[in-house]
Amino acid sequence: MLQLQVELGTRAYPIRIAPGLLERREAFAGLHFPQHVLLVTDTHVGKLYGDRVRRILPGNHEAALIALPPGEQHKTLVSAMRIFNALAEMQASRDALVVALGGGVIGDMAGFAAACWMRGVRCLQIPTTLLAMVDSSVGGKTAVDLPQGKNLVGAFHQPCAVVIDTDLLATLPPRELAAGLAEVVKYGALGDESFFAWVEQHADALIAGDTARLAQAVHRSCAHKARVVVADETEQGERALLNFGHTFGHAIEAEAGYGNLLHGEAVAIGMMLAARLSSELGIAPLLDVARLAAVLERLRLPVAVPAKIAARLDPSALLARMRLDKKNVSGRLRLILWRGIGHAFVAENVDSHHVLDLLTDAVAGDGG
Ligand SMILES: NC(=O)c1ccc[n+]([C@@H]2O[C@H](COP(=O)([O-])OP(=O)(O)OC[C@H]3O[C@@H](n4cnc5c(N)ncnc54)[C@H](O)[C@@H]3O)[C@@H](O)[C@H]2O)c1
Repeated sequence: MLQLQVELGTRAYPIRIAPGLLERREAFAGLHFPQHVLLVTDTHVGKLYGDRVRRILPGNHEAALIALPPGEQHKTLVSAMRIFNALAEMQASRDALVVALGGGVIGDMAGFAAACWMRGVRCLQIPTTLLAMVDSSVGGKTAVDLPQGKNLVGAFHQPCAVVIDTDLLATLPPRELAAGLAEVVKYGALGDESFFAWVEQHADALIAGDTARLAQAVHRSCAHKARVVVADETEQGERALLNFGHTFGHAIEAEAGYGNLLHGEAVAIGMMLAARLSSELGIAPLLDVARLAAVLERLRLPVAVPAKIAARLDPSALLARMRLDKKNVSGRLRLILWRGIGHAFVAENVDSHHVLDLLTDAVAGDGG
C-alpha cells in the first residue's frame, strides 16, 4: 500500500492507495466509525459497489445508503437536500460520518453536505473514477453547481481520509478513464516537466488501463496535489495553478450543457486554449503547445471544441461565464497561463479582447 499524508496540523489525513485496498484492514485503520454513517453514492456506482462497501465498512452499525442520480446535471442543491434529508431521517449527530463512494460529482456533493451538516461532520472519500482518485477526493474543495456556473456554492472541508482502491477502475467506461487522464496530464503540464515526460512515455499503457501504471499515476498526482494543498489550502496563491485549463473548461462545459462534455474533456480543451493563448501572447513556445496536444490526443481526449458543440456556442457567453470564475478578483480577468511545459503561472488582468478573439476562433467550427 502506498500512503501519503496531507499535513494540515490537527486536520491532517492519510491518502491510501493500492489495488484491492478495500478488502484490506489497513484501508480504514485509525478511523472511528460512529453510530451514524451515511454512505453517499450514485445509482451506477451503488449498483456495482454499494452493498459490498457497506459490508466492508467497520463499525458496529450498518451504514445507511443513499444513491443519487448520476451525472454533473445532478450536482445541485436539490441532490444536496436529499443528503440532508437522509441525515435528518437517521437523526445523525455531530459525530456522524459521511462516506463518499463515487466520482467527483458524488465526492463534491457528499463533502459539501458533510461541511454543512451541523456546521461540519467528518467525510471519508472513497473515489471510484480516475478523476476523483487523482484530483477531486483530495484537498477539501466541495461544492454544487448553479445554473449560472459550476461549483458556485460550496465550502472548503478536508476529508478525514482518502481510500483509493485502483481495482475499482476496472469497471470505469473508457471515456471516463480518458477524462481522468486529462487531470493527470494537467499536473505535469502545470508544474512537473519530468512527470509530463513520464506520461508521454506511458500514454499507451495508461489509456489501455494498465493498473500498475495507473496506480503510479494516481500516487504521483496525489503527491503533487497534497503538497500544493498543504502550502495553500484556501487558494490564495499556488493552489490556483491547479486550475490550469479550468476557467476555459468550466465555461465550455457549462455552455455546452452539463452532460455533453465530461469535466476532464472540457479541461483538456481548456488546457489547449490556455496554452494557445499563452503562445499567441508570445510567452509559450509553439512546440510545447504541440507537445501538449499530442499527448492529449494519444489519450483520446479532445484538443478543440467538437464541431457539433462549437456550433451552439456563443463566444461572448463563454467570456461572460469566465468572468464569473472564482479566481477573478474585483471583476478583473485572472487566468492561469503558461510559459511552456511545467511552467504555469497566474496572469492578472488578462486583456479580454485577446480572450474573446481566441474563443471566437475556438467555436468557429474546425474542432472536428
Ligand atoms: N473538488 C475538487 O477539487 C475537484 C477537482 C476536479 C473535479 N471536480 C469535480 O469532479 C466532477 C467530475 O467527476 P468525475 O469525472 O469523477 O464524474 P462523475 O462523478 O460524474 O462520474 C462519472 C461517471 O462514472 C460513473 N462511475 C464512477 N465510478 C465508476 C466505476 N468505478 N465504474 C463504473 N462507473 C463508474 C458514475 O456513475 C458517472 O456516471 C465535476 O463535478 C468536477 O467539478 C472536483
